[in-house]
Amino acid sequence: MQGLVEKINDAVEFLNPQINQYPQIGLILGTGLGDLSQQINQDISINYETIPHFPHSTVESHAGQLVFGTLNGTPIVAMEGRFHYYEGYSMKEVTFPVRVMKALGVETLIITNAAGGMNPNYQLADIMIIEDQINLMGDNPLRGINDDRLGVRFPDMSEPYDQRLIGLAEEMALELKIRTQIGSFVAVTGPNLETRAEYRMLRQMGADCVGMSTVPECIVANHASMKVLGLSVVTDICLPDALEPVEISKILKVAAEGGQKLARLIPQIIANL
Ligand code: HPA
Repeated sequence: MQGLVEKINDAVEFLNPQINQYPQIGLILGTGLGDLSQQINQDISINYETIPHFPHSTVESHAGQLVFGTLNGTPIVAMEGRFHYYEGYSMKEVTFPVRVMKALGVETLIITNAAGGMNPNYQLADIMIIEDQINLMGDNPLRGINDDRLGVRFPDMSEPYDQRLIGLAEEMALELKIRTQIGSFVAVTGPNLETRAEYRMLRQMGADCVGMSTVPECIVANHASMKVLGLSVVTDICLPDALEPVEISKILKVAAEGGQKLARLIPQIIANL
């Protein structure tokens, strides 16, 4: 069986001749948060299906392409659409694009997602800057034999999200008058949303937002010594004693609203890195 490093090399060899410059920043655009794509000065976009060892995107709201270009003059690579564990992919598949980004030279990864807000101070379409995370997915992308070329066996996670990037994001949001929160993110597998008892438990565990992504990508990025910034858009309010049934169409509408904020905030962060 082909090892992970060989698979990464295959993908890089495929992408290399197609790109003009190596990206410095990687962006993962979450569900309904595609607005930012329009601001990328695109060189080329490449369908996931064509990239060696990339899984295929299945969720409708996900375009499924890797976009290379510049944002405010900085070379970036953006994932339009991500792979979710609930779609049936393995943790290694979910995080494979992060490995490829790293191999292409990306040192800073900006991860976005739509999330449920459990902190009672949070409002719909708020942006939460992720400060810390809880992995409740019951699996780990680093499980199995460790290849020391990719990272250490027991990576440190005392600062999974870079403090300097958190500060910068806060500062830029303040300048742009975008309301932000700072908090902890817990990842579950989904695809069902949580029960009241589950929201109560997750809140008591110390999480402010819950979602079905980001944590695996953040773990791999840390393994690969990348700096991570995580931004959640609060798409539904998850107060266990006042819970209303969610409609996915509503979640997507709020995600679009938050996505507009991210489309202003992220270029500003990148310009000031
Ligand atoms: N739970 C889990 N994932 C989510 C939620 C939620 O309430 N909202 C958006 N993604």
